[in-house]
Amino acid sequence: MHASRSASHWTPDMITGQYGRTALITGGNSGIGLETARVLIRHGARVILAGRSKEGLDHAAAALRGERPDAQIATVVVDLGSLDSVERAGGHLATTETVDLLLNNAGVMNIPERRTTSDGFELTFGTNHLGHFALTAALMPALRRSPAARIVTVSAIAATWRIGRLKDLMSEERYSAMGAYAKSKRANVVFTQELARRLSDTRIEAVAVHPGSAMTNLQRHSQGALSKLVVALTSRTVMGSPEGAAWPSLYAATSPDVRSGQFIAPAGRDQTSGTPKAVPLPAGADDPAEGAFLFGESERLTGVTFPL
Ligand SMILES: NC(=O)c1ccc[n+]([C@@H]2O[C@H](COP(=O)([O-])OP(=O)(O)OC[C@H]3O[C@@H](n4cnc5c(N)ncnc54)[C@H](OP(=O)(O)O)[C@@H]3O)[C@@H](O)[C@H]2O)c1
Repeated sequence: MHASRSASHWTPDMITGQYGRTALITGGNSGIGLETARVLIRHGARVILAGRSKEGLDHAAAALRGERPDAQIATVVVDLGSLDSVERAGGHLATTETVDLLLNNAGVMNIPERRTTSDGFELTFGTNHLGHFALTAALMPALRRSPAARIVTVSAIAATWRIGRLKDLMSEERYSAMGAYAKSKRANVVFTQELARRLSDTRIEAVAVHPGSAMTNLQRHSQGALSKLVVALTSRTVMGSPEGAAWPSLYAATSPDVRSGQFIAPAGRDQTSGTPKAVPLPAGADDPAEGAFLFGESERLTGVTFPL
């Protein structure tokens, strides 16, 4: 009954129906992903924490078990910057698991110099979009086993910056740290739109989220004087907690009011905090031509054919 109330009153206390469901959360060892795991566990879900460091995953799992000894937690090492790692982990999970919720949450931001993943992709785009593209593709058999699956991809307000249509995906023509981030976060939304279209006659829904802003490890690369100043100022004024920043992901993952293709964000002033609700998409992000371009380029770059 709670869950069907208006989104303007939604809080995580209203989550229902998670017993017996499994949520896989990338970046589940830290920040927003860890908070998302904590709340889903509290509401009865089994959680698979996915991350690139076994030590980090074990530490997070131990902390969550310390809070709730009955928590059902598994961990899987997956480095989104390595197609080999994604294929290995995804292939294993695809044969052994039913995944009801996939939270494509992991991300990096503000990498000062252009760097590349082990596959040679620009690091921010490679991690935030291409790694999740390949992982989602690998997990499709596990998602198809669910009676009602959702893929929630965590974008950012940077997706709404006026960067225009996606191009120069590897930032070879021009690199800027936040430009690459904005591109990757627009790709998260365009990817979700294309998934929602392609999965429209299945039991799998795709939703994009932006969490507002919160002080987490995400800001660790913001080391330049200007970046430090911006982070220091915003952390005092508009940045919230990881707990609050997990609300849009939790609402998107669990609310029956959410529809495939929606973009969920905090409803408060400047979308930095507040109760989550569906907000307008970044300009043009629902253009099927851009979705087809992104899918095509993602398949070409990764060599992964998306099994739809
Ligand atoms: N915090 C904000 O204000 C904010 C605002 C808008 C959007 N977001 C988005 O929210 C999501 C979560 O960020 P957060 O703020 O919670 O930051 P965070 O605490 O730094 O968490 C990011 C997670 O991503 C993981 N990760 C990074 N590279 C990876 C890789 N190659 N393979 C696997 N995992 C990797 C990190 O693992 P390690 O711990 O091993 O580094 C960490 O678990 C991101 O997608 C971010 O863009 C955050």
